Amino acid sequence: MHKLKEDIFWTGYIDWDLRNFHGYETPTGSTYNAYLIVDEKPTLIDTAKYYGADEMITRIKEIIDPAKIQYIISNHTEMDHSGSIDKLLELCPNAEIVCSPKGEEELKRHFKKDWKFKVVNTGDELDIGKRKLKFLLMPMVHWPDSMATYSPQDKILFPNDAFGQHRASSERYVDEYGTDILMEDAAKYYANIVMPYGNQVLKVLEAIKDLAIDVIAPSHGLIWRKKEDIESIVAAYKKWASYEADDKVLIIYDTMWNSTRQMATRFQELIDKTGIAVKMIGLQEAHISDIVTDVLTAKIVLFGTPILNNRMLPTMAALLMYLKGLKTKNRFALTFGSYGWSKIGFKEFEDSIKDAGFELLTDGKYIQFVPDSDEIKSLEEYLPLIKEKVSTK
Ligand code: FEO
Repeated sequence: MHKLKEDIFWTGYIDWDLRNFHGYETPTGSTYNAYLIVDEKPTLIDTAKYYGADEMITRIKEIIDPAKIQYIISNHTEMDHSGSIDKLLELCPNAEIVCSPKGEEELKRHFKKDWKFKVVNTGDELDIGKRKLKFLLMPMVHWPDSMATYSPQDKILFPNDAFGQHRASSERYVDEYGTDILMEDAAKYYANIVMPYGNQVLKVLEAIKDLAIDVIAPSHGLIWRKKEDIESIVAAYKKWASYEADDKVLIIYDTMWNSTRQMATRFQELIDKTGIAVKMIGLQEAHISDIVTDVLTAKIVLFGTPILNNRMLPTMAALLMYLKGLKTKNRFALTFGSYGWSKIGFKEFEDSIKDAGFELLTDGKYIQFVPDSDEIKSLEEYLPLIKEKVSTK
């Protein structure tokens, strides 16, 4: 039994086996956090994915009879959080579902059930006894329906997906597990789930900046409770939502016969010698959801692909399509690669990079078949452009 504060309990589900969350690789699993507040009107904040229902209900039963639950707050419809409402309602059929206006629409579309809805808006209060819970709509963080619940009496913010991380663990608090690791998890979560919605995130940060917050209890992963950890994750969200980048160059490439890899390797060596932070990632080795985590903080990305059937390699096309959806901003790019008899595919490659939100620093470097020593040496010509944009370590 995990108690956050007096009469507030974590009753979620630990998904140890999860390895893929709609395309996002989750090598360390995840959790779906539900929180039970035992007050005069017992209230559950969010539920779990459908297969976590039994475990969640067992945890609730260790604390109270689920039949006593009066309110189920659905901060977000996505089924990793709403998927156990149906099963729970079998035990507390008179409970009301508290959600945003969009939440009501979306829950009806998902479950086709005539539940008792109590629709709330920003600033509304829900009197559950000793506590008056407050709500903050936060559209697009992560869906149109998303909202946060705040308990002023406990100084706990329940912001659902925001500030979450995908990690399964027996520990419940960030500081118990290791803040550095969880900050990395939170960055990956932000890059893959929240990145398109920077402006909306900034609005949420503005709305919560004057709230007294002792605990941030997200719907995935571990809970933030140390003052400095809360400050760190809020500051990181502000940076990411503002599309600020670090002085870092990323080289992302794929290769067929080693020519594009040779170019990537030489670029890495040259940039490293300047003292600029640089990281090289092969598309055959790294997962797309990890690559975008590096893109989150890289000021310049060098994209390299050979040409296959007049096109960039499908691995590169998939990455660029994913990045286009994530709508990164304020990033620069250089392009390079090897071709056989036609460079036509590089036009589509460059257009895709621009569509993904990057500004091309100059024309791409494209070499026929296998680069010779002069061509490898000519990559040095790109260094001044890189140094103009990125400071050394
Ligand atoms: Fe964790 Fe948008 O659901």
